[in-house]
Amino acid sequence: MKIGILGAGPFPNHFIPLFQAHPLVEEVVIAERMAERRDAACKKHGIKRAFDNFDDLLASDVDAIGVYTQRWTHAPWAIKAMRAGKHVFSAVPAAISLEELEELIDTVKETGQLYMLGETTWYEAPTILARKLNRIGAFGDLVYGEANYCHDMEHGFYPPYQIANGDEWKQFASFPPMLYPTHSVGQIVGVTGQPMQKVSCFGQTDNHEDAIFDSELSYFDNAFSNETGLFQASGGASYRANEFRRVSGVAPLIVQGTKGALIDRLWMRHDRTNCDFTEQLIIKPQALPEDWAEQKAQGAQDDFLGGVSATHDFERLPPTFNGLSNGHGGSHHFLADDFVHMVSREQTPVLNVWTAARMCAPGIIAHQSALKGGELMSIPDFGPAPADLTIMDIEQEAGKDVIFPDLVAV
Ligand SMILES: NC(=O)c1ccc[n+]([C@@H]2O[C@H](COP(=O)([O-])OP(=O)(O)OC[C@H]3O[C@@H](n4cnc5c(N)ncnc54)[C@H](O)[C@@H]3O)[C@@H](O)[C@H]2O)c1
Repeated sequence: MKIGILGAGPFPNHFIPLFQAHPLVEEVVIAERMAERRDAACKKHGIKRAFDNFDDLLASDVDAIGVYTQRWTHAPWAIKAMRAGKHVFSAVPAAISLEELEELIDTVKETGQLYMLGETTWYEAPTILARKLNRIGAFGDLVYGEANYCHDMEHGFYPPYQIANGDEWKQFASFPPMLYPTHSVGQIVGVTGQPMQKVSCFGQTDNHEDAIFDSELSYFDNAFSNETGLFQASGGASYRANEFRRVSGVAPLIVQGTKGALIDRLWMRHDRTNCDFTEQLIIKPQALPEDWAEQKAQGAQDDFLGGVSATHDFERLPPTFNGLSNGHGGSHHFLADDFVHMVSREQTPVLNVWTAARMCAPGIIAHQSALKGGELMSIPDFGPAPADLTIMDIEQEAGKDVIFPDLVAV
């Protein structure tokens, strides 16, 4: 297959080498309107075909498109690509309004094209472990959970906005935290599969001297740099999701049930015996990419580097991925492989448009709740994927849900 990449900023730089190394991929083509970025990507990845606009990429013979444009722009490009007969991989978030989500789902249904959301937490070690524990019932009934995306503006966030958005960058850097909810809400959905039904959310008005989160200036009329939502999911469990852009430190995943709880790296059984999963979850860093200095100049930070953990099932990946740069907790290799298999098998992936809606709609409503001072609001559910679709879930196909059996035993 041939894959087209829309947008050649820092993030797709991690994925292009993986697509190129995949045995089922013949060529990677790019479209990037900034000449400097386009030329740099061609040089770095040995790309032979590069366009300066999306229409030319759509008119080309690529089978599928990876949408890697700015955070608030993904849905319209994904819709346009599917309408042009291309399958789609979308960087997160899938959409920033309920209307966009609805149109994305309608487009998938109408065109029959395949859509995958590239949510990185899905394949991060704590999510994989918690999802597998949940699948075998080790939590019992789910009670409570917490997930967090703590990314301070000063932690490598200025350059991506500045480089891609020119003099107007401050307007866009105020992107509302809860409109980017997939690393927190989406991580919980990635463990439980439960749709969120209600939310009450609070926003913290920013007062930093950089004056980014100024509602007068903001393209999104947004003054909140931090948002905290308390959600109730189907089944009755409550979850807290934090989307923070002005904060110190990071916070771990917590999932508590009636029979067991995963508190960061500690598995706590109902009988109060504990087991430490640190060895299984720890990411062992790989070698630095050759262009690491260049990546750092574009805002990359040391903790953006990926690696490998004992929780990841690397046997399912093509051997040609061995030694290639990874990222976001080891997730890039799995997302790239899922996408290629989705196109090759012509099957709806587990990170499909309905999963994407369950990750994004709660954040969209949470932001509305925050604007109303925390009002309790209902979250519409776009449902699971239609029952007549065969869902491709390579993790489940591997049949390795019983993970670290000696440690999990109740
Ligand atoms: N962990 C994660 O899942 C994760 C991490 C980083 C980034 N992301 C997502 O990936 C996306 C890309 O990230 P990035 O840092 O590379 O973004 P970026 O904003 O630096 O780059 C976007 C690029 O798209 C190009 N572009 C936009 N519209 C175009 C068009 N119509 N035609 C041609 N080129 C166009 C821009 O010129 C720019 O170079 C972001 O939207 C972000 O949401 C996800």
